[in-house]
Amino acid sequence: MNFKIRPATKEDCKGISRMIMELAVYVKMPDQVKISHEELERDGFCQNPFFECLVAEVPEENKSTEGFTLVGYAFYFYTYSTWKGRSVYLEDLYVMPEFRGNGIGKGLLSKVAEVGKKKQCVRLQMSVFDWNTPSRDFYAAKGAQDLTESEGWHFIRFDNQSLDNLANEAPKD
Ligand SMILES: CC(C)(COP(=O)(O)OP(=O)(O)OC[C@H]1O[C@@H](n2cnc3c(N)ncnc32)[C@H](O)[C@@H]1OP(=O)(O)O)[C@@H](O)C(=O)NCCC(=O)NCCS
Repeated sequence: MNFKIRPATKEDCKGISRMIMELAVYVKMPDQVKISHEELERDGFCQNPFFECLVAEVPEENKSTEGFTLVGYAFYFYTYSTWKGRSVYLEDLYVMPEFRGNGIGKGLLSKVAEVGKKKQCVRLQMSVFDWNTPSRDFYAAKGAQDLTESEGWHFIRFDNQSLDNLANEAPKD
């Protein structure tokens, strides 16, 4: 399979948005997607971008049955470990079903690792659903450690009302 992996441009945001929804359908949570391609354009292509993204592109002659040439993406940003320093967090890794098994997922993941290493990152981390054994196996096969199993971490979140409540309780300056 002939494919190219390259940094996303602002013009790719519609295609990325489509694949974000496809991934959300895959993880059975399509109702959770509230982001628009305009927000992606704003947040990823501003002076201090909130994220970076790589896309996998196939030539016209290999386009998907629906006519798409963007067939996968890796969406990531930088975090910081107080123990280890610079880190990359992989938010999404996705390859369209009809293009899987051709090395595209591996190519995207390795490319994120390469980009991170160039910026002296020492970790590449991600979260994956417990039931998503194909992806857990994919990461394990590449040498990733499952921290929930080995260290018992929980994934914690404040949003909506809990986030509002917390912010409202902040001491006044
Ligand atoms: C996970 C995913 C990105 C893999 O993409 P892909 O293009 O099919 O994977 P590749 O063809 O690059 O496979 C690369 C390697 O992983 C192996 N692999 C792929 N799927 C695997 C699986 N389920 N279990 C074990 N190994 C697997 C391949 O055999 C290949 O091994 P090799 O390097 O020894 O040849 C893709 O299946 C996907 O989009 N899944 C749905 C979305 C998802 O769950 N994303 C991750 C969580 S956000």
